[in-house]
Amino acid sequence: MKSGLVISLASALVLAIPAPPSHDINLDERIRFGWCRETNVTSTCNERFLDHATCYNFEVLDNYLNDNIETVTTTGGRCVIWEKNGCHGDHTGMIVGTDIAVDNVCPGYTWSIHGSSVKCCGGDSNAEWCADPGEKPKCTD
Ligand SMILES: *[C@@H]1O[C@H](CO)[C@@H](O)[C@H](O)[C@H]1NC(C)=O
Repeated sequence: MKSGLVISLASALVLAIPAPPSHDINLDERIRFGWCRETNVTSTCNERFLDHATCYNFEVLDNYLNDNIETVTTTGGRCVIWEKNGCHGDHTGMIVGTDIAVDNVCPGYTWSIHGSSVKCCGGDSNAEWCADPGEKPKCTD
């Protein structure tokens, strides 16, 4: 049957095309934000699930975290660290990945002793940034 052949060729084609990466943000999943105040010292490490586009002061996440954060892990999203409480002042670019050294996020700037708040958006690094600033954030210091 000619039409049957066309249909099976069409489905073979569909199977051969890899699914495009999803750039959508799943607003039902929160972003896991992990940190260590001291690199590899597990007693200084913790994590929280954060809402999209919501600012959290470090002192709310951990009494000793303000100006005192050496590594960060983000799962299910991207996070930006800010110099002042309330996500004000200078900020980093988007931080994505596991055990990221905060001092390497913006070359030449010691964010480990300057970070005070954080805001995250879900999705991969190509997904639209969901919060202020509207563009994909880049290091401002
Ligand atoms: C932390 O641990 C990892 C994995 O064991 C290691 O590669 C890295 O060098 C350590 N970093 C420091 C600063 O100790």
